[in-house]
Amino acid sequence: MNRLLPSVRQALRLHRFRYYATMTMTDHAIAPPAVPPHEPQPEDIPATNISAEALAPAPVIPATEYGKVVLAPMVRSGQLAMRLLSLKYGADIVWGPETIDKSLIGCERVENPTTGCVDYVRTGLIFRACPPREKSKFIFQMGTAAPDTAVAAAKIIAQDVSGIDVNSGCPKPFSTHAGMGAALLKDIPRLLSILTALVENVGLSTPYALPISVKIRLLPTVEETHALVTSLCKTGISKLTLHCRTPPMRPREPAIRDALAGTAKICKDAGVEFFVNGDIKGWDDAQEVIKEYDIQGGAMIAVAAEANPSCFNPNHLGGLKPWREVVTDFMLIAMSVENPISNTKFCLLNMVPGKNQMHKVLSRAKTYRDICEIMGLECTYPEELDLGTLKTQRVRAQEEKDAQIQAERAERQKKLAEFKRKKAEAEAGEQKDAEEGSNKRIKVDAEERSNSTTGAAVAELAATDMLLPGSAAEPVQAVV
Ligand SMILES: Cc1cc2nc3c(=O)[nH]c(=O)nc-3n(C[C@H](O)[C@H](O)[C@H](O)COP(=O)(O)O)c2cc1C
Repeated sequence: MNRLLPSVRQALRLHRFRYYATMTMTDHAIAPPAVPPHEPQPEDIPATNISAEALAPAPVIPATEYGKVVLAPMVRSGQLAMRLLSLKYGADIVWGPETIDKSLIGCERVENPTTGCVDYVRTGLIFRACPPREKSKFIFQMGTAAPDTAVAAAKIIAQDVSGIDVNSGCPKPFSTHAGMGAALLKDIPRLLSILTALVENVGLSTPYALPISVKIRLLPTVEETHALVTSLCKTGISKLTLHCRTPPMRPREPAIRDALAGTAKICKDAGVEFFVNGDIKGWDDAQEVIKEYDIQGGAMIAVAAEANPSCFNPNHLGGLKPWREVVTDFMLIAMSVENPISNTKFCLLNMVPGKNQMHKVLSRAKTYRDICEIMGLECTYPEELDLGTLKTQRVRAQEEKDAQIQAERAERQKKLAEFKRKKAEAEAGEQKDAEEGSNKRIKVDAEERSNSTTGAAVAELAATDMLLPGSAAEPVQAVV
């Protein structure tokens, strides 16, 4: 009992902090809040049949004592359900997956009153956010190569986010070929012009009041990295993240921390909140790095959070949770926001250990109902939407098309057989007629022949003056 007391006291302290020391992403000393600090309130959360426990906000760690620990932007893995789960486990801020600015331009904003989510839709779903449950801690990351499209996209999404981040580190060809991501590190004037345009048009001193940030990778030398960071800080940005790898480095190569201390200092002096990224394993690891390099911001986690988002939970609050508990929490959240099944499955397969039997079984699941059955959960995902993954839908559509083609072919064959039958009948009839006709013709021919014989005989007779009485010109009627 005595051993329990300190932890009870600690829990009570944290409980008090949760109400009195709430810190949102915009509270940092550098920038005034972009939006009023807003913890999701019970009334914000749409009524669903998900347990209150699953949707409860995370325990708030007093950020004055600790550095922030945030979810990295991740294409696919950083969709809405994963962001909400990371927040549940204590992430201080969540970055969304890189979304290309041009894909957002022209989108329609559609609210879903059942889930509380908003969808940005063009030909399909481009982006889903859930403002009541994440807005105060959500940063939208965009892929962009030009100031005007970046600003246009930022204005479209502004009302549903608490910050706009520019991806200037992605080395993948789909980003770089269009001049986005790491390509911007080779065209620094362009990167600076994009950030300046965002700051001037949607930044903190505009009616949009959004903090602007950038995520970069290391340049080849520490000096080049520091020079870049110095220039970036002069654009008026509020936050900067340094992924401690150069663009050509593979994710498995260990992060390089040589430039960290200098970058942290440059940002601190410029009043820019700095986040370190690369190989951070969880909340406790993050605090060590933050302390070691005197970082006035926090640490960003990608791969470790993708595998188990409870890495945001400090050890003194229980640390990492068992994967079964995590995937159950994930499913409850995924169903509550009608997360697309393909993304749900992708995220689950990242969280379930590859060697576990469930991994194999899950990889074959096609619908929410399949997954819930495997996991022994009640399925609350609407049945009419539970059509399976896009692949399943494509396969099913192809099967339906094939079946239709088969049916049409069978119909055609039936018609052809009918036609052939009728034709054969007609031909048989014709043959009969022809035979009868030919018999008749033979008879007629015979008769004609006999007539012509008679005619010839008459002519012969005429020639021999054995004509019947009358003029010579009078035609002679053959006697038939
Ligand atoms: C699946 C996946 C998707 C990613 N997508 C993005 C992205 O959209 N934007 C971005 O800036 N970085 C992206 N990254 C890079 C991460 O944000 C992060 O910088 C990198 O993984 C290093 O962090 P880590 O060592 O904690 O994994 C992605 C990484 C992963 C694993």
